[in-house]
Amino acid sequence: MSVAQKNYKRVTVKTLVDMKANGEKISMLTAYDYTMAKIVDGAGIDVILVGDSASNVMAGHETTLPITLDQMIYHASSVVRAIYRALIVVDLPFGSYQSDPKEALRSAIRIMKESGAHSVKLEGGKEIKESIKRILNAGIPVMGHLGLTPQSIYKFGTYTVRAKEEEEAHRLISDAKMLERLGCFAIVLEKIPAKLAKQVAESVRIPIIGIGAGPDVDGQVLVLHDMLGMTHEFNPRFLRRYLNLFDDMTNAIAQYVDDVKTRDFPNKSEQY
Ligand code: KIV
Repeated sequence: MSVAQKNYKRVTVKTLVDMKANGEKISMLTAYDYTMAKIVDGAGIDVILVGDSASNVMAGHETTLPITLDQMIYHASSVVRAIYRALIVVDLPFGSYQSDPKEALRSAIRIMKESGAHSVKLEGGKEIKESIKRILNAGIPVMGHLGLTPQSIYKFGTYTVRAKEEEEAHRLISDAKMLERLGCFAIVLEKIPAKLAKQVAESVRIPIIGIGAGPDVDGQVLVLHDMLGMTHEFNPRFLRRYLNLFDDMTNAIAQYVDDVKTRDFPNKSEQY
């Protein structure tokens, strides 16, 4: 059992709001399966996001759009079984909440009931206000997501930095304030200018978790497989790689292939 597991005190949505008030930064990473989630939780992460980036990372799709609600529930339940301490947030996938608030609530309830996760995340501002209200009214904690919202990639056309123009920046600040008023417990801000992210973080009391949003926010999130260097096609400026697992794993597997071919594996002590 790791240090984090022995001394664990569960992270709740209230813990995160208190962390912001106390100036303590929040750490968040994605996980989509039991084994990885166990390592991430044991290492002391505050929040695990079962992101719809599973669509890219786990299933090899080009965008986050194809992943289904059933698939998100499968990933989320695997993560839930691994966790002692972290707060678990699950993305509502594209198509499960945009059409009407009742459907949004049904989708959020399925995630909470069938996976055992602690909260959900939705992309967007004013346009999904009624859905967020309905989910919150059912007692389900909601994390917002503004700036670059990958589920709308075909509307934007590219994955470039968002809200560089004044009008979009104003809209983003007003959306963040609205999400706070509605009762969201935190907001992810993706790929926006650092100066604007700082302004947003200073204008709300709920935590702002950045990805490509600079240092002056209340926490940071990265996609686990990217920061471990398991993926190597994706190289945005904001990504810090802590390992180069792509090369390490390739070398280990190549060594295994060689050991099998040369009859080096298994040796005398590796058999019965
Ligand atoms: O799905 C995801 O991984 C996300 C993060 C990029 C914040 O939404």
